[in-house]
Parts: sequence; C-alpha cells; structure tokens
Amino acid sequence: MSEAADQIFATLKQSSQSGAPLYLQLRKSIEDAVNRGLIGPGDALPSERDIATKADISRVTVRKAVQDLVKGGILIQRHGSGTFVAPRMERVEQSLSRLTSFTEDMARRGMAVRSAWLDRGLYAPSPDEMMVLGLSSNELVARVARLRIANDTPLAIERAALSASVLPDPAGIGSSLYAALELTGHRPVRAVQRISAANLGDSDARLLEVPPGIAGLHIERISYLASGKVIEFTRSIYRGDAYDFVAELRLSGPGEEVRP
Ligand code: GLP
Repeated sequence: MSEAADQIFATLKQSSQSGAPLYLQLRKSIEDAVNRGLIGPGDALPSERDIATKADISRVTVRKAVQDLVKGGILIQRHGSGTFVAPRMERVEQSLSRLTSFTEDMARRGMAVRSAWLDRGLYAPSPDEMMVLGLSSNELVARVARLRIANDTPLAIERAALSASVLPDPAGIGSSLYAALELTGHRPVRAVQRISAANLGDSDARLLEVPPGIAGLHIERISYLASGKVIEFTRSIYRGDAYDFVAELRLSGPGEEVRP
C-alpha cells in the first residue's frame, strides 16, 4: 500500500487542480486510486497524520475526505484497526422479464443462498395489505420478512405479505417462498414490479452491512395467479451497489398494443 499511497498523495501535493476544495481533491485522488486498482479491497489507508504530512494538508481536511468516502461505501472504518478499502461487491445482473425467485436467481449463478429471519407470523392486515391482497379486516395476513444472503453477503431485505388462507403457516416455508407456494399450487405466474431509488435508513443499512444513507433500491412486487388473483405483495430493499436490473426493450410493431 505505502508506495501507492506515496504516489497518490504526491500527485495531490503537486496538482494545482481547478481550485476545488482540498478535501474534494483528496477524496478524488483516493477514489481514482481505488478505481485504477492502485489500492485494492482490504488495503489499509495510512493514518490521518501520515496522509496529512504526505499531502501537506490539515488533518481536519483528511478526516472530511475520508468520512465522505466511508459514507459512500468506498472505504470502511474498523474501530481500533483503522481505515481500509471496502471489499468490492460483485454486481448481480438481474433480468426484469422473468418471474423468478431469489433462490433460483442465485442458484443459477452458482451462489450459495441463505436467509436470516426477521419476522414470520400471522397478523391483522395493514390498510395497504388489505387493499393489495383483497383482504377484509377480519382476515389475517401472513408476513415473511427475511434478510437474503448470497455467498455470505447480505443483498436484500424482503418483506412479503400473503393472505393467511394461502400461507397459514409462514414459519413452515423452508428456504424458498416460491417453492412452498409451488407445492400448494399457488406459485405466481405474473408479477408487476416497481423499482425506485431509496437511501438506506440506519437499521436497513446495518442489516445490509453498508453505511447508512447509501443508495439502495426499493422494489415492490405484486404477483398474480393464473386466475388473476393477487397472491404476493412484497416490499424489498436491495443494495444499490450489488444489483443491475436489465430489461430488454423492443420496438413495438405497427398496431401492436403497448400495455403497462
Ligand atoms: C424475489 C422476489 C420476491 C419473492 C422472492 C421469493 O426475490 N423479489 O418478491 O418473494 O423472490 O424468493 P424465494 O422463493 O427464494 O423465497
């Protein structure tokens, strides 16, 4: 690390970049070094004092740049042992045209899947759940909330809600909700998925092992049986640094109906 560090900070010292604030210049030098592979995942950053001396800037400036990079997920800080380049996430490319389960998606990529339970049980439905699942206030909703983990990396928090008449024992689904639904003839055949940007709150960020406030994806899936009945209402938070959602687009032919 130290040779690379010398190089980075010497560059910074000599550069007369654009008059941008010093902490931004330092942040960019470190970020460039990570992107160019001069310093790699797991490498330790020199101490604040060393950086300040090498780059000839104040420790306050160094702290500001480093804190920004920690917030952005480029660096991580471990109490007592220092600051390191964050492990690189291998991004998962996910097609938006197939109705698959998390277990199937990860198995296809040869990744080991597991889940940590956050909640499972039968509850009085919320107004949203009643509306989407078509439940009345005297019916129950089955909730299944899991942290989804692939190759030991937490990728998503998924909170699924189904009618209790379809899933009377949410604790009994085993490792795959869709496999359990398949067994009872309730596997969905169609879904509408809505994806929006979300900054991760403290507790979600902690579960996903990323800094709070970092960009994530909020995904809502409403899935249907062949009969047209809604079977699943799932709200998830995915790590923004781990997923690329890919959709194939085609020019619609003349007279072809464009449906949502
Ligand atoms: C995906 C979907 C969820 C669905 C889940 C089922 O991740 N976004 O809406 O509930 O798959 O996955 P599994 O069958 O592995 O439990």
